[in-house]
Amino acid sequence: MSNYDIIAPYYDRLSRIIFGKKLKVAQLFLIEQIKPCNSILIVGGGDGGVLEAIASHCNQGLFITYVDSSEKMIALAKAIDAGKNEVNFITSKVEDVLLPQNYDYVFTAFLFDNFSQGTCNRIFYKIAENLRSGGLWLYADFVNTNNWGHQLLLKSMFLFFRLLCGVESNKLPGMESLFNKDEFSCNDTKCWMDGFIKAQVFEKKDIL
Ligand SMILES: C[S@@+](CC[C@H](N)C(=O)[O-])C[C@H]1O[C@@H](n2cnc3c(N)ncnc32)[C@H](O)[C@@H]1O
Repeated sequence: MSNYDIIAPYYDRLSRIIFGKKLKVAQLFLIEQIKPCNSILIVGGGDGGVLEAIASHCNQGLFITYVDSSEKMIALAKAIDAGKNEVNFITSKVEDVLLPQNYDYVFTAFLFDNFSQGTCNRIFYKIAENLRSGGLWLYADFVNTNNWGHQLLLKSMFLFFRLLCGVESNKLPGMESLFNKDEFSCNDTKCWMDGFIKAQVFEKKDIL
């Protein structure tokens, strides 16, 4: 199992050095979808920067469940001003948590690149079953491209996170077949760095 404790205090600075503001901008694009008085499940939220961004967009009335497996990440996230939104922090692997409800939104940013395909599939279905029909999955991650610079960067990131955090994967998992067209429709997509970073808004269909 990966453990981000060791890099938790430096994660934000590192991501800014490598990607500038692009990872944050991708998250802001997704956060624009969120409406007040709704419930959100954030998985692998990291140091809590996302809570601050959500509070700037919608300062009150949100019910947020924040799951992260790193104690240090959760400690940093607890120190963030989330406005008047209610946040329930859970320090655990998402696959081990009994989630209390069907959420209006689930939010996963740069989470699935941590997992082998098998783990990724299990986590995907676990999260999907906790999103209500008609709810939105706000999703961002890296994408394979033909650009050798991107490929080199990905390889370096996998090596770095494997050595420091014990991340199990060494390539991006296939996500497209998981968000299959029978169960999800893609309402919006935006890319950065020539397609290397992609944010997507998926709506869970009402299946009778
Ligand atoms: C690459 S960081 C992304 C953080 C944040 N989403 C962002 O974009 O800045 C991945 C996060 O997922 C968490 N994580 C990894 N595996 C997890 C799991 N099985 N369940 C919950 N959180 C997990 C890590 O602790 C880490 O905080």
